[in-house]
Amino acid sequence: MSITTDNQFWLDKWKHNKIGFHESEPHNLLTQFWSHLKISNTSKVLVPLCGKSIDMLWLKRSGHEVTGVELSGTAISSFFEENQIEAKIQQRDKNNCYVGGGLTIWEADIFNLPNVELESHEIIYDRAALVAINPRQRHKYVKSLADNMSSGSYMFLIGLEYDKSLLSGPPFSLAKDDIELLYGGSWNIKEIERQTTMVKDQPGFEVLYILEKV
Ligand SMILES: C[S@@+](CC[C@H](N)C(=O)[O-])C[C@H]1O[C@@H](n2cnc3c(N)ncnc32)[C@H](O)[C@@H]1O
Repeated sequence: MSITTDNQFWLDKWKHNKIGFHESEPHNLLTQFWSHLKISNTSKVLVPLCGKSIDMLWLKRSGHEVTGVELSGTAISSFFEENQIEAKIQQRDKNNCYVGGGLTIWEADIFNLPNVELESHEIIYDRAALVAINPRQRHKYVKSLADNMSSGSYMFLIGLEYDKSLLSGPPFSLAKDDIELLYGGSWNIKEIERQTTMVKDQPGFEVLYILEKV
């Protein structure tokens, strides 16, 4: 798929409400293991490819400043409507930026967002984001997102792993070796928890990694 068709794929998912990845409760690995990060409650959290994730509300309620980035305007308006949060839409860097309830969500392609918007965050919360990116784009994604983060920054990464001979993505399977290849040079990587899950009717694992930038 080209980048344009990748984007169209996701926009169509939202248009037809085919959003099986969306969860109505905060993710159990988030609520169980967030306290493993040695951070202050007020640190800024970036949520790439955020969809309309309730996890953003959980992070906000825990005291964090939260910025989401999402391609689909439908996802963002639904997030604010469903959670009864009033949002104002501002124009920033030629993108719509929704601001309300102490949350900021950019309606943008993550690859087009100015670095300056991304690098001011101390933590990245990646649930089902890297696994949604076409593997051909992974290096570019990591470069635009994580290269400029300062030493001591964290990434809370929840990925999916499954037998690639049985399924094709998205979501794309992400093994520890893939993470080593992408982040190993400049981040310490720890696998924290692994739980079984179903991925498109096939058994797989949901795996939590905590990464710290060196
Ligand atoms: C698998 S969903 C995960 C959503 C969310 N993280 C969650 O946990 O519910 C991936 C999301 O990424 C968005 N997306 C895909 N490619 C994107 C891109 N290049 N820039 C911004 N958002 C993108 C899709 O619209 C979709 O909402």
